[in-house]
Order: sequence, then C-alpha cells, then structure tokens
Amino acid sequence: MNVHDPGPPGDSGLTVRDLAVSYGPVTALRGISLEVPRGSVVTVLGGNGAGKSTLLRAISGTLRFHRGGITAGEIGFGRARLSGAATSAVVAHGVVQVPEGRKIFARMTVEENLRAGALGARDRRSASESRERVLTLFPVLAERARQRAGLLSGGEQQMLAIGRALMARPKLLLLDEPTLGLAPMMAARIADTVREINAQGTTVLLVEQNAALALSLASHAYVLEVGEVVLSGPAAELAESDEVRRRYLGIGDDRDEAPLAGAAPARPALSRWSA
Ligand SMILES: Nc1ncnc2c1ncn2[C@@H]1O[C@H](COP(=O)(O)OP(=O)(O)O)[C@@H](O)[C@H]1O
Ligand SMILES: [Mg+2]
Repeated sequence: MNVHDPGPPGDSGLTVRDLAVSYGPVTALRGISLEVPRGSVVTVLGGNGAGKSTLLRAISGTLRFHRGGITAGEIGFGRARLSGAATSAVVAHGVVQVPEGRKIFARMTVEENLRAGALGARDRRSASESRERVLTLFPVLAERARQRAGLLSGGEQQMLAIGRALMARPKLLLLDEPTLGLAPMMAARIADTVREINAQGTTVLLVEQNAALALSLASHAYVLEVGEVVLSGPAAELAESDEVRRRYLGIGDDRDEAPLAGAAPARPALSRWSA
C-alpha cells in the first residue's frame, strides 16, 4: 500500500517515511522521515554516531554490505521504490552515493577511477560527455589524469570521489561528509563545486558535521541525534536558531552569559567549525 502523497507526477524527489534501520540487535535509526525535493540541496547534520552514514546507506541500498537492514518504513525516489532495491537498481534510478572517507581506488590512476564510475551508468555512450563535465568541474583531475589516485591530496581525492560518482550521471547525489578532514579553504572549494553540481540540475543530499558550511549550501536541514530527527526546518532558520548556533556552530556560549534555567546542556562536540 502506498501511503505517500506522490506530489506532482514524476517530479517528486526523495521521500523517506518512518524509516528504521538496525545492525543486528543494534537499532541505528528510528522514525526518520524526510524530503529532498527535486533540484534542491538538503542537509542532514549530526555528530559522530548520530546515524548519518546509516541513512545514506539505507537510501543507496548498501546497508547489507555493513550487515545492516531496514526494519521499517519506506524510501521512494520519484515513482521508484528504493527500500528493498539492490544497489545497482538504486544507481539505475539515478541515485549515487559518495561514501564517507572518499574510498577511491588508490592504486588506480585518476582516469581509471573515473572510468570505474561510468560502469554503472545508464547510458555508456554518454561516458565521454560525463568525463568532460567532470574535468571541467575539477580541472585538477585532468592535470593528474595519469597519476595514481593515492598520490592526490585529501581534497583532490574528495574531488575524484565526487567526480567518479558524477560519471554515473546521478539525478540525486548522496554526499557523506565531503569536507571531513579538509582545511577550511579546501572545504570551501568542495562547497563551491556542490553548488555548481546542483546548479547543473543534480539534487543533493549532503550529510555533514560541518554545520556552518552545510547550512550555507542547503535550503532545508535536518538534525539527527542518536538515530532520530530532533530538529528540522529551512536552513536559514536553523542557522539563526539559538539551539543550533550554540550546539552546532559554537556560537553564543559566551562565558559571561548565565545558563538559561532548564536549558539543555551545550554539547560542544560538534562545534568543530568556527567561521
Ligand atoms: N556496521 C555496523 N555495525 C554495527 N553498528 C554500526 C555499524 N555502522 C554503524 N553502526 C552504529 O550505528 C550508529 C550510527 O552510525 P553511523 O551511521 O555511522 O553514524 P554517523 O555517520 O552519523 O557517524 C552508531 O551507533 C554506530 O556505532
Ligand atoms: Mg558517518
């Protein structure tokens, strides 16, 4: 039984409804509902272990490779049902994930990594067109085409990981902490390319701990804590919210400021970004 509102025909983006995910006896996500409208950038924020990667694995059909599984809920993309679909079927529907920690093929050349990304593409004839698009977006990958990917800097490896995903011509790109471990300037460059990719028509679901950067890119944001959505709204509103500013942006916990009665204790673990 389909209980969702399908939205405009053929035009709805990603819809997650009441999703629950477990790894064996461990429940990692429960009651997750979110929307990523077609053409948008939506971000999911949260600290380590909140369930961000698990959410992306559930969408991309890769949970089984981590001994996890969906125990409740539905994931749909346009008219396609992704929950229960094999990874290859999810890619064929135009949903491609860039995994956490880049996961490029270090011993292969940059060129070979990009070619590997085109293997799952719906239309292989368009591979050279995709390649052109990727090399225009990331000129450094053209310069380094014949180098082993393992020799690239962290930021360049992230570009390659994104470029490889783009070779499959995704309609929806799933990005798992693309700026993790990068210097602020490189993180800003990655952010610029995410904007560009979105401007070229690709919908983006961005998972990040870097709240300031993610909120500057996204139109809408969800905050995950211990496997549940605790806060959501337009990114601009979340960026202004006292709770988000204090807990995720490291702003407003002025030492002279008396703590509010009954206020939740600040969790400074997420305030890695100071803009
Ligand atoms: N392969 C796995 N097996 C068992 N538990 C896991 C596995 N992967 C993640 N978890 C658990 O699921 C929860 C969410 O993890 P994860 O999705 O990786 O969070 P995040 O990406 O936000 O850091 C954590 O409690 C983590 O320990
Ligand atoms: Mg993660």
